[in-house]
Amino acid sequence: MSLAKNILLFGATGNIGSFILDALLSARSQFTRIAIFTSPHTAQTKANQLSKLKQQGVEVITGNIEDEEAVKAAYAGIDTVISALGRDTLAQQIPLIRLAAASKDVRWFLPSEYGTDIKYGPASANEKPHQQKLKVRTYLEDEVSRDDLTFSYVVTGPFAEMYLHVVPGLEEAGGWDVKRRKAILLQGKDISLTTMKDVGTLVLNTLLHATAETRNAALCVNSFTTTPEKIQAEFERQLGGQAWDVSQTSLARLRELEAAAWDDGKPAATVLTLRRIWTEGGTLYEKRANSLIGEPKVMGLEEVVANEIARVANL
Ligand SMILES: NC(=O)c1ccc[n+]([C@@H]2O[C@H](COP(=O)([O-])OP(=O)(O)OC[C@H]3O[C@@H](n4cnc5c(N)ncnc54)[C@H](OP(=O)(O)O)[C@@H]3O)[C@@H](O)[C@H]2O)c1
Repeated sequence: MSLAKNILLFGATGNIGSFILDALLSARSQFTRIAIFTSPHTAQTKANQLSKLKQQGVEVITGNIEDEEAVKAAYAGIDTVISALGRDTLAQQIPLIRLAAASKDVRWFLPSEYGTDIKYGPASANEKPHQQKLKVRTYLEDEVSRDDLTFSYVVTGPFAEMYLHVVPGLEEAGGWDVKRRKAILLQGKDISLTTMKDVGTLVLNTLLHATAETRNAALCVNSFTTTPEKIQAEFERQLGGQAWDVSQTSLARLRELEAAAWDDGKPAATVLTLRRIWTEGGTLYEKRANSLIGEPKVMGLEEVVANEIARVANL
């Protein structure tokens, strides 16, 4: 049985929260309770999804994350809180952490990370997309006593599936358009990727393999490391036939696009900064932490490319 027995997940129906919840449910017998805290809006708009979750033994708690009484009530009997809140609500985790530290039950908090290593190097402190996550870490590390609450950051780097996608209107930022056989390769260092399913697996394994090394630590994990050229070669190998239209975006061009997007206040600026950081090599770790959490089986490039081809075929 897992040391973390009673789990509360925020953001459970979101992009990555749903994969984390799937992984927890795949190991249902390891846990006494799996609860999710979801907004009244989601309770209305995703009623079917929530009713299926209830049938799978998930406790669905509906409330507003800003309602401290509702959060305190949800924490009763919970030892581990996992947050998968989206970018717009990252700062809201600070009161959630304060309440967790004050609760007599909650012992472990996994904040919403699942992305780029926000303390990769000295320049990381100034990267705009990192600021909210950095504030959350500072609060956890400087304002909360370890006797009250421990933490783990699951740092996964880019989600492999999202890295493959061409962002509409942002073609130069890279990606693979399988239908049109068009690829835009970012020219830079190797890239470490984690599939969304593996994010779930790696969070689950973080709970199952809790040690002094994995608590109060950033766990830099991944599925595999590759290059845009290897991804392109794998698409060509699996699809054969028709030639691809392949172009490249240099790091200098990416930086130019990024600066212009921030100057113009475009929402795409965040994506461009993250892709620039990844292309600079900001996802490459000296050592990956997969082995600290039981070296779970993770996916490889071949499977990710096959899934993308199947996804596009079904559109
Ligand atoms: N590595 C990558 O490539 C990558 C890509 C995407 C995201 N991420 C990271 O993954 C984490 C989760 O992101 P996500 O894309 O999965 O999040 P998301 O789907 O946008 O949102 C997750 C949940 O957050 C809650 N939420 C979002 N906006 C809210 C608002 N304005 N008010 C109240 N609640 C709100 C919702 O919970 P309810 O359903 O309860 O309302 C929602 O289901 C973030 O830390 C993000 O940076 C990483």
